[in-house]
Amino acid sequence: MCGIVGYIGPRQATPILVNGLRRLEYRGYDSAGVSVWQDGKSRVVRCQGKLQGLVEKLEKEPAPGCVGIGHTRWATHGRPSDTNAHPHKVGRVSVVHNGIIENHLKLRQELESAGAKFSSETDTEIVSHLIHQEFETGAKNLTDAVLGALKKVKGAYAIVVLDDNAPDTIVAAKNASPMVIGIGEGEHYVASDVTAILSETQEIIFTEEGEIVTLRKDGYSLTDLDGKEIERAPQTIRWTAAQAEKDGYRHYMAKEIHEQPRAVVDTLAGRIDLEHDNVTLDGIEVDVSNIKRIVMVACGTSYHSSLVGKFLIEDMSRIPVEVDLASEYRYRNPVIRKTDLVIAISQSGETADTMGAVQLAKAGGAKVLAISNVLESSIPRLADYAFYTHAGPEIGVASTKAFTTQLVSLALLAIHLGRQTGELAPERARKILAELVSLPNKMADVIEHGAQLQIIARRYGKAKGFLFMGRGNLYPIALEGALKLKEISYIHAEGYSAGEMKHGPIALIDENLPVVVLVPQGPLYDKVVSNLTEVRAREGKVIAIATRGDNDIGAIADEVVMIPDTLPELQPILAVLPLQQLSYYVADYLGTDIDQPRNLAKSVTVE
Ligand code: M6R
Repeated sequence: MCGIVGYIGPRQATPILVNGLRRLEYRGYDSAGVSVWQDGKSRVVRCQGKLQGLVEKLEKEPAPGCVGIGHTRWATHGRPSDTNAHPHKVGRVSVVHNGIIENHLKLRQELESAGAKFSSETDTEIVSHLIHQEFETGAKNLTDAVLGALKKVKGAYAIVVLDDNAPDTIVAAKNASPMVIGIGEGEHYVASDVTAILSETQEIIFTEEGEIVTLRKDGYSLTDLDGKEIERAPQTIRWTAAQAEKDGYRHYMAKEIHEQPRAVVDTLAGRIDLEHDNVTLDGIEVDVSNIKRIVMVACGTSYHSSLVGKFLIEDMSRIPVEVDLASEYRYRNPVIRKTDLVIAISQSGETADTMGAVQLAKAGGAKVLAISNVLESSIPRLADYAFYTHAGPEIGVASTKAFTTQLVSLALLAIHLGRQTGELAPERARKILAELVSLPNKMADVIEHGAQLQIIARRYGKAKGFLFMGRGNLYPIALEGALKLKEISYIHAEGYSAGEMKHGPIALIDENLPVVVLVPQGPLYDKVVSNLTEVRAREGKVIAIATRGDNDIGAIADEVVMIPDTLPELQPILAVLPLQQLSYYVADYLGTDIDQPRNLAKSVTVE
């Protein structure tokens, strides 16, 4: 999500840090900062806003020195501000951090009771305090202090630490957030992405989970969290800067498709309360006794996630849910009551129509909960409650990881509401929570089998149109599959409820029409199979998305894409992945501009 750079060597650190941060700015851009050591202590300079703000501040207040760490931030805990920007310095220790500290509330309480004074709202400052505390209680050196602090921390992180008393070292640690070491001649680098340091060195070591690095000017050591030495030779990376920005993928969309398992881990982080078979919603307390109805408003892909949300929330909480396109809701004089909870979903948090719908709902006295990916964006700021998906910056215009993390957020919300209304039994909640935790691995499994979608894309990529069909909670996924394909390949595509087929779209079917049918195992399987057979009977080309182990489907479909088994409630999260990949590969085959398709903008801030 955020970007990290560190340098130790004979040259001035600040220009190297700023140059690296500039290359990472696309990952997070609400604030930036550096901590650079000289003459006995490090100097921290931080600035809210784009990196250019930091550059201007550094011109006025330079930070000279040959050892330093820097950070560009995409806020998750604490709004974008100078004081929430990294590095966070406590005593002699400066820390930059990517990821999420899951047990931050508990750790913060413990530290505060022990007398720690916090100056920011971030989870990162907890790490600075913990390392400081390790020194106070006798840690011999920075590496030991970091190791001691990390024993208390749960979550995904990459951290880099600078100690005023040990300017000959930088210590970095990684757990489930990327981190690389750059090897130079008498100088070393650390960064969250190779992009940041590729202009300085191509000799790179990729660190793995639970590893800790101590960097010096003239060397480095890599150990596990028990201090055991690890030997790993550097690799020579020959990516261009543009390739590196996309982690070696050719498009942001491909990178973001692959980031989804990680993004879902971040959405779940710190929110699952297994002890009570429940979910904690970052302190959001929605009093269900006052809610008679939920109305969901959104646009585009976020509208499709709302349609899935209706299934999840009604099923688990039995609160009635209506879903509206924000652009319709705001102009149709809707009934708004004080007993409505309006859920507004927006990746960017800036979509004009969703914003208009929220303003209308608030004026009518309804309470509004925003689900967004961008901290402190306009819609969550306007809402009564804000819940963040933590997907990280999404650059490709076609939404992918924002969608799956919205679905996971809605599943969490549905569990929370269901447990409050009493309609969701603890045993069922436990089962769904356990399945949510196992989803990232299943998602990775689907994405890794993407080569098959590339072959299918080449086989059908010249078709004039596509039909997508699903039923129940997979009907919105059919809509989403069609939207994805239209958006980036410019092929006409329609999403339909499979049950509606005979009411019109069946007339379209002939041997030239590829029909993508979502047919995983579940309560509606037999019904969808009979719709599929009707397509086949009219010579339509069937691309079936089915559950692994379904041995019958191959006989009645032209292509079968298998996805792992999961609970029917959560099938949309897996079923959408091959559709994202199909549209990506079709567009790539046709040579369209995948990340910036014609006529589209990432954030639609005008009507
Ligand atoms: O930022 P939002 O979620 O409010 O954006 C809504 C739509 O503009 C967006 O989902 C759009 O449909 C995407 N390009 C779909 O991939």
